Amino acid sequence: MYDTVMTTDTDLCAAAIKRGRVVAFSTETVYGLGADCFNEEAVKAVFDAKGRPADNPLIIHVCSIEQAKTVVKSWTQDMDMLARNFWPGPLSLVAKKADAVPDIVSGGKDTVAVRMPGNFYALDFIKKCGVPIAAPSANTSTRPSPTKAIHVLKDMNGKIPYILGGGDCAKGIESTVYDMESRSVLRPGTVTAEDIERVIGNINRDLDERDAHKSPGTKYPHYSPAYKVVLVEGENIAKKTHELYNSAVQTGLKCVILDIDGQVDVNGDSRLNYNGDVNRFARELYDTLISHEGNTDVMFITGTAKQGVGLAVMNRLEKAAAGNIVIS
Ligand code: TXA
Ligand code: MG
Repeated sequence: MYDTVMTTDTDLCAAAIKRGRVVAFSTETVYGLGADCFNEEAVKAVFDAKGRPADNPLIIHVCSIEQAKTVVKSWTQDMDMLARNFWPGPLSLVAKKADAVPDIVSGGKDTVAVRMPGNFYALDFIKKCGVPIAAPSANTSTRPSPTKAIHVLKDMNGKIPYILGGGDCAKGIESTVYDMESRSVLRPGTVTAEDIERVIGNINRDLDERDAHKSPGTKYPHYSPAYKVVLVEGENIAKKTHELYNSAVQTGLKCVILDIDGQVDVNGDSRLNYNGDVNRFARELYDTLISHEGNTDVMFITGTAKQGVGLAVMNRLEKAAAGNIVIS
């Protein structure tokens, strides 16, 4: 057990990493739970703190392209173009791993995901650590990802020595995971397939189940708050959500509607209207899921178009709904 300390002192946090400790740190996407990627014991402690299955690999965070080159077997021209266009930023590149990276980081796979986070505290911290930092999102497995230092504190209090609290996450959902070999997006994010194509030309867009399982994390339950989430998709989202909401409220359940496109006709505090601003929705999603715990029985979320950032948002919502998807 630790007396978990919340700090903005990157020297203190980097010193802890050098002692083989686990440190949570802010990024522009979600908070990460970091360890020295070359220290197997430290990486194991990350899996333990999260309760993460051993076959689900971690993303390696770097502070420069030079450092990225130390964790992959070869640095291709496409990787260089993507890194120069999107780093620091929310794009993780999957490529053959360097032998120096322990198998525990890659979940036994021969590839690694690597990215340079776009957050001042993260970059300063990684630079001071002097080693690349392996980090998953800083939540207990299956829970919504943390986008504020307080989320990490609630979840990880006592389990880790430090939280590097660099403010709220600007993007709010995890990075795009792009596989160099199959030229496909394994996890959509705020860097979209269109963005990637503008830099390296056509990529493989028909991601099937087989490809999805290339990213082991996609098969596990995710983003689940302590109440029921119902996602409404299809042609008549407004009408269907209204009906479902009314009948649930009549049975005495405490309900709330997250209305991404601002189309449901329910007034009052029980509707959060994002007016079609999918970037704001992404930024606030996990905090909204977490902050409604304890006073909510059901959350109805209206679906949005699966394009651009909408695709990334719908990917998270379909998981959070854990099968409670109503097609209207
Ligand atoms: O924005 C992010 O990506 C955040 C911050 C902390 O950087 N990290 C994050 O990590 O979301 P995590 O562990 O929650 O999700 C990593 C995803 C998982 O779906 C995992 O399976 C996939 O990336 N992944 C990691 N390494 C991989 C690899 N070698 N091949 C395929 N997928 C990989
Ligand atoms: Mg995660």
